[in-house]
Amino acid sequence: MINVKDVKVYFRSPRGQVKALDGVNLDIGKGEIVGLAGESGCGKSTLALGISRLILPPGKIVAGEVNFDGTDILKLEEREFREKYRWKKMSMVFQGSMNGFTPVFTIGYQIREVLKIHGYNGDHNQRTRDLLQMVELDPEIESRFPHELSGGQKQRAFIAMALALDPPFLIADEPTTALDVVTQVSIMNLLKKLRKEKGIAILLITHDLALISEIVDRVYILYAGRMAESGTASDIFINPQHPYTKGLIASIPTLKSTKIAGIEGFMPDLANLPPGCKFYPRCPYVMEVCKKDEPQLRNVRNDQVAACWLY
Ligand SMILES: Nc1ncnc2c1ncn2[C@@H]1O[C@H](COP(=O)(O)OP(=O)(O)OP(=O)(O)O)[C@@H](O)[C@H]1O
Ligand SMILES: [Mg+2]
Repeated sequence: MINVKDVKVYFRSPRGQVKALDGVNLDIGKGEIVGLAGESGCGKSTLALGISRLILPPGKIVAGEVNFDGTDILKLEEREFREKYRWKKMSMVFQGSMNGFTPVFTIGYQIREVLKIHGYNGDHNQRTRDLLQMVELDPEIESRFPHELSGGQKQRAFIAMALALDPPFLIADEPTTALDVVTQVSIMNLLKKLRKEKGIAILLITHDLALISEIVDRVYILYAGRMAESGTASDIFINPQHPYTKGLIASIPTLKSTKIAGIEGFMPDLANLPPGCKFYPRCPYVMEVCKKDEPQLRNVRNDQVAACWLY
């Protein structure tokens, strides 16, 4: 359903050109839950915004395609994209979106506004109540103001609003940041239920691999604006191949281990990238070739691909 092809997003900055995404590919099938993970600043939100056509200056999509059922939505006129795609075919729950409600209107009013603006055919009151019920909230919540809801309730209400027009594709960018662990897990279960009941495809973005491990079908690992590795969830979690993925998986705390492994060092400055593999300064397996030539993604096992000179 979604095919992201060689997308590049650069930001102009006083430090020079920040190459936030530099040739990224990603596919999402109908009804699939795809995880996108990587540490802070690697470009996850930039990719989400790019797919949603929400990159603002000083940022720019300088190359690539975002195909939705075969149509490159980056080439559409803004008006056509707004009328046919945004909300109707895809919507986004973004980082901190639970604070995206306007404080002075009730939750129900704000959901009904979305229905009204986008010309929902049907009873708007009933639809609002159904949407709240779908995200396991008491429909009576519609008469409450945002500050009268807990963080988790607000996030659920925001997901309800994002699904108002029944889009087949949802982007959830760190949908559970700032929530407690129990609430985080319950939101993950909600996303899983929405996929099961409505067949909705989800791009689930997180820096917390442990949180998404139970619900994703496939995972992409982003590092410094490029894909390091991708594969099925079990391939990535059980048989990570790229040294960066191995480091990420090893840094997931378990109940048994007392010592948490980490990845030493920092991601390179995206305005001043080293030649060769962008991970080599931190890589325990670094070789001479890594410092000079950038590895391309290649098949390493079954459907698992990684960009690493070890393979
Ligand atoms: N307006 C901007 N101007 C310059 N650089 C920017 C701008 N917005 C983002 N960037 C840079 O683009 C890179 C990717 O940022 P992005 O927000 O996509 O990261 P992220 O992976 O979502 O991180 P996090 O996990 O912290 O949300 C970062 O290095 C960031 O500094
Ligand atoms: Mg982000």
